[in-house]
Amino acid sequence: MRIVVSVPGAFRIEPWVDAVKGALPEAEVSAWDKAPANWADYAIVWAPEGALFEDQRALKAVFNLGAGVDALLALAALPPGLPVVRLGDAGMSVQMAEYVCQAVIRFARGLGEYEREMKAGIWSAKRAPARSDFPVGVMGLGAIGARVARALAAFDYPVLGWSRSPKTVAGVASYCGPAGLDAFLRASRILVCALPLTPDTRGILCRATLEKLRPEGYLINVGRGAHLIEDDLLELLDEGVIKGATLDVFTEEPLRGDHPFLRQPSITLTPHISAVTNRHLSVEQIAQKIKRFEAGAAIDGVVERTRGY
Ligand SMILES: NC(=O)c1ccc[n+]([C@@H]2O[C@H](COP(=O)([O-])OP(=O)(O)OC[C@H]3O[C@@H](n4cnc5c(N)ncnc54)[C@H](OP(=O)(O)O)[C@@H]3O)[C@@H](O)[C@H]2O)c1
Repeated sequence: MRIVVSVPGAFRIEPWVDAVKGALPEAEVSAWDKAPANWADYAIVWAPEGALFEDQRALKAVFNLGAGVDALLALAALPPGLPVVRLGDAGMSVQMAEYVCQAVIRFARGLGEYEREMKAGIWSAKRAPARSDFPVGVMGLGAIGARVARALAAFDYPVLGWSRSPKTVAGVASYCGPAGLDAFLRASRILVCALPLTPDTRGILCRATLEKLRPEGYLINVGRGAHLIEDDLLELLDEGVIKGATLDVFTEEPLRGDHPFLRQPSITLTPHISAVTNRHLSVEQIAQKIKRFEAGAAIDGVVERTRGY
């Protein structure tokens, strides 16, 4: 079995190649740019160049080193019939639960305001807010969204979830489909986006959506930058319709030095780190899937191309 690995950009390739060799000692493993054409049976990738699929035409499947496959599916060179397998939870959902809980707690407890006041020499303890005033709506109840929703429910926030199909998650009110979106939004004050980026969800965080939140709403986006219409958010913050936002993902990454988000004090920003891929766990998971695939067994995470995730 032959495997090419491609993780262009910020990552060094050698540790990934070594990790795959360690997890699949029976395989021949190479960085894609060192492999002969049409050599590999499988590709393990994160944000690869389309040229990989023109060069490696004998692939039986491609394994994505992340949960989101939007960038991969957007490659024109990706063969239509090639199975694309996304990463299941490989230590990402617990990180996302931490990240979202801290952002929700920061909003609900007014911690940003306390920080500003303390630094201005103001000692002003306010009445503790009621959790019932901060219902949290989680868009997407998959591996990540469901874990986030359960973590929030454990802090006794009212939690609502929205997905394509109905879900049963303990402590979470389930809404689904386009028909359930309006009621879900109107019952939520803090909106968390943990959706995959698909043709149906691109631009879903727009004025029409955000205006439906309860007064003085908040947004937390850990999905993809293209879920959000950035200018709509800036306007709604100026108008006071939205009171604050925590954003981990952006239309253009890295964020430009002159981006208006950098000057908006009500937005908290992080550089796409809310859930970082763990090399050991992700390679181990993919190795198990490749073994099952080779044996002709069913595997989790095969992307349905038509729905986009
Ligand atoms: N910022 C980061 O560092 C980071 C890290 C990892 C992942 N992510 C993002 O998180 C996303 C979700 O990951 P995951 O592992 O939780 O994916 P997942 O298990 O596939 O779950 C996706 C969820 O979204 C729902 N959904 C999809 N399309 C929908 C639509 N049109 N309307 C309503 N609900 C819809 C699905 O509904 P059904 O269950 O009914 O199908 C499912 O509940 C990834 O695609 C990626 O974009 C970001």
